[in-house]
Amino acid sequence: MSSQFDLTDPENEALLGSCRQAKRIAVLTGAGISAESGLATFRGDGGIWSKFKPEELANMEAFLRNPERVWEWYQYRRDVLDSANPNPGHFALAAWERICPEFSLITQNVDGLHQAAGSTRVIELHGNLKVNRCQSCGAESDTEEIRFEGKVPKCGCGGMLRPGVVWFGEMLPEAAIREAFQSSQTCDLFLVVGTSAVVYPAASLPEIAKESGAAVLEINPEPTPITRWADFSIRGNAGDILPQLVEAISIKL
Ligand code: OAD
Repeated sequence: MSSQFDLTDPENEALLGSCRQAKRIAVLTGAGISAESGLATFRGDGGIWSKFKPEELANMEAFLRNPERVWEWYQYRRDVLDSANPNPGHFALAAWERICPEFSLITQNVDGLHQAAGSTRVIELHGNLKVNRCQSCGAESDTEEIRFEGKVPKCGCGGMLRPGVVWFGEMLPEAAIREAFQSSQTCDLFLVVGTSAVVYPAASLPEIAKESGAAVLEINPEPTPITRWADFSIRGNAGDILPQLVEAISIKL
């Protein structure tokens, strides 16, 4: 583990070796990778859940009780997202994907910034903030033409639309979780970037990868439950560390 990441430090030789040799890479990202794009993380000081209560906003009971309040909050988050751009951490992962034979980017984020940076194989475990889903017929649409202006938006079928994200107590999208487990079981390097690794089932993926024989590399300015058993743990911001790593393994950004 290093407190200040220094690629020339012989301590990082094994880490770089693992990154260079890896042919199958899986990455799990969390809110931390988008922090440098100006989007708040969930936990800790200033985190979203320190200002808002999940039980009042991010579950079905809350939506059925007060859909306007829930919509107002998600519209606010969409507005914030509209002015956010991918940062060097997102771009570095997109560059890595382009030269790696098998690269799966599993994200808990709903902001779409990985795709905006050019990543093409993104597995969204918690849905996408810019998608609307109908409560009645399940049809999905993007948000371009739909905005919450005080009235809950409706689907063509008459049903109430809701944001296309996973709320507490809901199942994760089946295909996404299946692909995420598969990539975790078959990769030879698993990166854990910018997640507190406390929300399941996402938090179990690094463990599955480790049990299946992969090396686990964590990038986070703070320690997490994964830190103590990860093969490599780099203390730092994703936007600093990932571009350095990608450059070091000889990829043109
Ligand atoms: P958290 O807010 O729990 O954790 C963010 C992590 O990012 C923390 O460990 C920070 O130390 C780290 N971090 C902060 N800045 C960073 C940076 N510049 N570079 C790298 N890491 C940084 O967010 P998640 O782990 O994503 O779920 O939270 C998981 C889920 O909990 C979310 O998807 C959301 C939430 O409730 C749902 O809404 C279903």
